[in-house]
Amino acid sequence: MGELTETENSNKRPAALLWEISQGSRGMYCAACAALLISVACNFTMPQLIRFLVDSASGVPASHMPVISSFAAAAGLGADFAERAGGLATAALLVVAVAAVGGAFTFTCRWTLACASEGMIKRLRDRLYSHIQRLPFEWHISIQTGDIVQRCTSDVEIVRNFASNQLIEIIRASALVIFAYSVLFPMNFTMAAASFAFLPVIFFYSAVFLRNASVSFLAADEAEGLLLAIAQENFSGVRVVRAFGRERYEADRFAAQNELFAELWMKLGRMLSAYWGIGDLLTGLQMVAICAVGAQQASRGGITVGEFIVFIIYNSMIIWPVRGLGRVLSEAGKTFVSLGRLREILESPTEADDEGASELPVKGDIEFDRVSFSYQDEPVLRDVSFTVKEGTTLGILGTTGSGKTTVAHLLCRLYDLGDGEGEIRIGKVDIKRFKHSHLRSNVGVVLQEPFLYSRTIAENIAGLSKNCPIQRIKDAAEIAQVDSDIERFAHSYGTMVGERGVTLSGGQKQRVAIARAILKGTPIMVFDDSLSAVDTETDARIRAALKSRAGGVTFIIISHRITTLSQADVIMVMESGRIVEMGPPAELERQGGIYARVLGMQRLVEGDLAEEAGGA
Ligand SMILES: Nc1ncnc2c1ncn2[C@@H]1O[C@H](COP(=O)(O)OP(=O)(O)OP(=O)(O)O)[C@@H](O)[C@H]1O
Ligand SMILES: [Mg+2]
Repeated sequence: MGELTETENSNKRPAALLWEISQGSRGMYCAACAALLISVACNFTMPQLIRFLVDSASGVPASHMPVISSFAAAAGLGADFAERAGGLATAALLVVAVAAVGGAFTFTCRWTLACASEGMIKRLRDRLYSHIQRLPFEWHISIQTGDIVQRCTSDVEIVRNFASNQLIEIIRASALVIFAYSVLFPMNFTMAAASFAFLPVIFFYSAVFLRNASVSFLAADEAEGLLLAIAQENFSGVRVVRAFGRERYEADRFAAQNELFAELWMKLGRMLSAYWGIGDLLTGLQMVAICAVGAQQASRGGITVGEFIVFIIYNSMIIWPVRGLGRVLSEAGKTFVSLGRLREILESPTEADDEGASELPVKGDIEFDRVSFSYQDEPVLRDVSFTVKEGTTLGILGTTGSGKTTVAHLLCRLYDLGDGEGEIRIGKVDIKRFKHSHLRSNVGVVLQEPFLYSRTIAENIAGLSKNCPIQRIKDAAEIAQVDSDIERFAHSYGTMVGERGVTLSGGQKQRVAIARAILKGTPIMVFDDSLSAVDTETDARIRAALKSRAGGVTFIIISHRITTLSQADVIMVMESGRIVEMGPPAELERQGGIYARVLGMQRLVEGDLAEEAGGA
């Protein structure tokens, strides 16, 4: 299910996703485009004013200046404004006014654009996060966390860059080219053609070069990812590195990767230098062509000095956006790849409740009825049937990999049974008929490897709920035998749990996780090897406290330690996905099977340890 691979479909309809997430920002985008067009028009008027200044100083009649005359007419100054204005002061004032209007609209454009794009990306992040939260457990474990994180950060950042910068650059460059050439061609066709002829060359040169460079960019990105992975692995595995004296080895490994990374960037630097150099050469050649044609036209009297200046200014105004357009379009290609990768996440099916799923009370006996299950091809549970009476305790003992955790996974529907794989019922109701969230709020599972948030201990026990009274948190911690440990910390329940709970010992982490499950107060509780890092005495105290306070709760306790299971009403022994023994502990002891053998061995070891302790 849902494996994230670069499929043929990863580029399928990414534009549709862009369109979807733009909902709510489209008005803003339109406003930004309108402001952009006005600011481009202002930029574009400037050379016309300069031309007016130059040509009126050289005595060129205003009838030769149709653009400035029509602007003056549009502004209500009369078509003969150019003749009347004459004075440089009026024209200079006009330059300032146009620059001010242009500046104001550039600000409006940038600001509305920022609001539009940030709003759009916020929606994308929210959608991704809430979708990922609703994806089945199976999806989560089939995908590397790093991959998900990279998609939700780097890929989102690429889309953000496109939405906030590149999209508007494409519109700006196109508008500039259209505006400029719609004036230049009527003004002087030959010169305009000389300038225009270079545009496709410059554009395609940039696009093709940067498209090729993106392969090197990708390699550099991957090398960076690897470098980060080595660093991260080292920092979080610092204890193992120190314990095994691997500092030198790890430093060398990092240095080798760092060298590769630096080399890739130097290669990229070389490529980019060549790109800029050749690009400058092409624009230089274009300028030479314009000057040559301009000189020829001027000698024939076909162009004024002002017109010549307008050509040069317009040309330099559009050349950078056109050079940039090549880059922007190759970046846009990356955006579409990223959108495709994000779409893959958003299209993975979420965990759906069955039709008519209910919130009936999750109460009564737990029944596994001929359950067979496999994660992949190999069967993990084979025809497993058992019943746990409400309010009793089932202990599960079994070799590693015998399927004990799988029983817990199936009970809270982290995985679902397929057709013909049997049925699991609670109080005679098939668990598929409960809503997922309802079932899980009634079946508390303390996992084999507890996960704690980087929050305070109190928040961890309260399941991140802020309003839980501290007394309830303390009561739960007392039952889990972790209250006195917590009180010894400087900030007691306000102590921050470090990244993945490193400030707590393994046993403390387990007990905090148990306290969390106790506070949740579910009628069914599953402890999956949750007492393995706790000493035998604490283990016994936790079980005694649970037994005396949690009346009516049905327990399933999975453990390798016989003493943890000895108080259970019924013990089930599993081997290779099958139940091989089942019954009350005393009966299993009498039968002399696996349970009795393990019990004997563990008693022997405990006896030896007690003797050693006595002797010492
Ligand atoms: N998500 C998974 N995908 C594929 N195989 C899995 C998955 N989870 C567990 N398995 C396999 O299923 C088998 C049973 O695993 P399970 O975790 O239920 O064993 P267990 O009895 O809890 O073992 P332990 O005592 O070591 O915790 C193992 O062979 C394991 O490799
Ligand atoms: Mg297990």
